[in-house]
Amino acid sequence: MKHLIDPTDLSVAEIDEIMELALDIIDHKDKYNEVCKHKKLATLFFEPSTRTRLSFEAAMMELGGNVLGFSSADSSSATKGESVGDTVRVVSCYADIIAMRHPKEGAPHFASFVSDVPIINAGDGGHNHPTQTLTDLLTIRREKGRLNNFTIGLCGDLKFGRTVHSLIKALARYEGIKFVLISPKELRVPDYIITEVFEKNNIEYKEVSTMEEVMGELDIIYMTRVQKERFFNEADYVRLKDTYILDRAKLKLAKEDLSILHPLPRVNEIAVEVDDDPRACYFRQALNGKYVRMALIMTLLGVKA
Ligand code: NCD
Repeated sequence: MKHLIDPTDLSVAEIDEIMELALDIIDHKDKYNEVCKHKKLATLFFEPSTRTRLSFEAAMMELGGNVLGFSSADSSSATKGESVGDTVRVVSCYADIIAMRHPKEGAPHFASFVSDVPIINAGDGGHNHPTQTLTDLLTIRREKGRLNNFTIGLCGDLKFGRTVHSLIKALARYEGIKFVLISPKELRVPDYIITEVFEKNNIEYKEVSTMEEVMGELDIIYMTRVQKERFFNEADYVRLKDTYILDRAKLKLAKEDLSILHPLPRVNEIAVEVDDDPRACYFRQALNGKYVRMALIMTLLGVKA
C-alpha cells in the first residue's frame, strides 16, 4: 500500500505515469466513469478548503465512486478531544482511501502509520501539499508541453506557502529548471529548501525582492497568497500582505508566452484585470486539479480502466 505524504514519495517515473493517465482521462472521460464503482473516498478536512476538497470529491464521483467526510474540525469528534490517530483508524474501516488536511505539520504522515488504507496529504500546515503539486505539474505540462528547461519565478509567501515547498521539491528533479524566488526577507523560503534541495543538488536559484527586476526572464510565474492563518502577529500580516500585485503594467515586462499560475485562493496578489490575459492559467489549473486527482486515486487504489 502506498501513501502520498510528500511529493517525493512518488518517483519521477510514477509522476509521469500519473500525468499520462490524467491526460488520457481528459481525452476519454467515458472510459473512466465506473472504474471506482463501490469504492469510497473519505475527506477529513481539519482546515478550510474549497478546491482541494471539492475537486477530490468531484474526482471520485466522476470515477463512479462515493464520498464521505467532514469539512471542518468543528463538525468532527476532534471537538470532543479525539486524537487524529483514533479518527483515522476508525475512518479507515469505512473508506478505501483518505484525503486529509490538517493545520499541524506531519499530521497526515502520522495518520499513515495507523491507517489500513492509503492516506493522501491534502495540505499539512505550512509544510507540504503534494496534490497541488501534481495539479501544478499537469498544468505546466499542458501549457508548456514539457516539464524541463524553463525558468520559474515563485512569488509571495515562500515561507509559509506549502504549495511552494512541494512544487520546488518536485521540480528540482527535472532537468534545466532555474528557480527565481521573489519574496520580502521575512517570507523567504525555509533554509532547509536552500540547503537540502538547491545546494545539495547544485540547482540554479536566486532570491530577489521585486518582481520588476526579473519579470522578463520568467517562463512561468507562480503567485501565492500571504498565508494569514500562519502569522503570529496580525500587524506583520497587514504590513506584508500586498507586497506583490501582478497587474497589466507588470505584465508588459513579461514574455509573450509567460504562464501565470496560482494555487488559489487569490486575495489581492493578481489584479482581476489579468484574468482575461491568455497567459493567465489559474482557472485552467483548478480544473486540472480534478483530473490529476482522478489519476491519483486510481493509482493508489490500483484500479485500471
Ligand atoms: C493552497 C493551500 O491550501 O495551501 N490552496 C489550495 O489548496 N489550492 C494555497 C493557499 O491556501 O494559499
